[in-house]
Formats: sequence, structure tokens, C-alpha cells
Amino acid sequence: MSDEEQPPESPPLDPQSLRLAAANALIRRRRTIKPKDFSNKPIENLHLASILENANWAPTHGMTEPWRFFVFMEEGRQRLADYLQSLYKKKTPEDQFRQDKFDKLGTQALLAPVVIAMGMKRQEIGKIPEIEEIEAVACAIQNMHLTASALGMGAFWSSPPISYTDEMREWLGMESEEDKCLGFFYLGWPESEEWPEGSRGNVSEKVTWVRE
Ligand SMILES: Cc1cc2nc3c(=O)[nH]c(=O)nc-3n(C[C@H](O)[C@H](O)[C@H](O)COP(=O)(O)O)c2cc1C
Repeated sequence: MSDEEQPPESPPLDPQSLRLAAANALIRRRRTIKPKDFSNKPIENLHLASILENANWAPTHGMTEPWRFFVFMEEGRQRLADYLQSLYKKKTPEDQFRQDKFDKLGTQALLAPVVIAMGMKRQEIGKIPEIEEIEAVACAIQNMHLTASALGMGAFWSSPPISYTDEMREWLGMESEEDKCLGFFYLGWPESEEWPEGSRGNVSEKVTWVRE
């Protein structure tokens, strides 16, 4: 091949735009997939460790790191399911009791190989506003969700009203009345090979530009 026939050199790959493309894909592909759509394939410890480690890298005002995780697996899931049902029964007025909700609380945990109850541990001196501690835990949960999606794993943040009760917090072993349970994170491998589509309204409707 003479010099003239050489193919043109492709431009160098810009690591910054590669990272942006990876971030865009990760964030926009993150999807909620519920336990009814999980297969019964187990979750390996290595994957679970990555999910929890990434949660631990969430932003945290004052470095309080308020996220706490209670990981239910194997027989532990049955204990969780039993407690969720008993708490639902206790806290729900008779005329509002729904059998379908009660049943779901009893079965959902068993459809997921791992269920993580998520807690906010309030800083003892209470210097950081509570809302910021809750926000930090939400960031940690988003990190878990992004990591799960990156792995192709299904994940679902569930927040039944009983999550926020004192009974739930105490049952998890969070002693201070200032602590909170923020719900449950169900993890499992999706049964379907088709990754679900997401949808959002237009971002321009949620942004106000201020220039002067
Ligand atoms: C704080 C919080 C609590 C949630 N609780 C529930 C819930 O109790 N039940 C539910 O079906 N989805 C719950 N979700 C998940 C949303 O339904 C889900 O994020 C939404 O449908 C958008 O889908 P996507 O996550 O695939 O983008 C919760 C999400 C957040 C952020």
C-alpha cells in the first residue's frame, strides 16, 4: 500500500467525552424492575459488595455518613416478610385494610434474593439538618441503583407507609427516635432479557433560567 492509500487516522478518543457518554448511559438506563419480574438466580457476594461499597461513596454533609443498611437474605427474608405483614395489620385501620397489599408484603421479599432495608442514622449532636441526612441516604440509594443497573441487575425502591413507623425503625435495631427507615431495596436478576424503557417529561419544563 502506498502512502496515499493509508486510511485516514481517526481522531484521538477524548477521555472526557468517553466518561460523559458512560455517565449518560448509566444514569438514563437505570430502571426500576420489581421482584415479580426477577428470576431466581442468586446474587453473588462480590456484586452485593460493589453495590454496598458504592452506596458508601455518596455525598454527605459534615461527613456524617448517615446511611445504614440491613441486608436480608436466605431465611432472613421470611422474617422480614412476616414482620412487614404483622406491622401492616397492626397499623392499618380495619376499613382501610387491603388483602392484596397484605399478601404482597408477605411474598415480595421471597421473590428477591436480597432485600436491603435502608436507614438514616441521625447524627447525635443533630448539627446537620435532618433533611440533609435523608438526602444523603437517598444519594446512597441512587448509587446502589446505578450500580445494580450497570450490572444488569433489577432493583426496586419500595416505601410502604409502614417504613416510616417507629416500630419498623426499632425492629431494625435503630434505637434513636431521630433515626428513620427509608424503605426497602429489592435486588434480583431480571427474568426478561429485554431491559425496560423509561420515560420522563421534558427537562425544560423543570428549569428556570436566571440571567439578570
Ligand atoms: C423515594 C422513592 C420511593 C419509592 N417508592 C416506591 C413504592 O413504594 N412503590 C413503587 O412502585 N415505586 C416506588 N418508587 C420507584 C418509582 O416508582 C420509580 O422510580 C418510577 O416509576 C420511575 O421508574 P424508573 O426508576 O425506572 O425510572 C420509589 C422511588 C423513590 C425515589
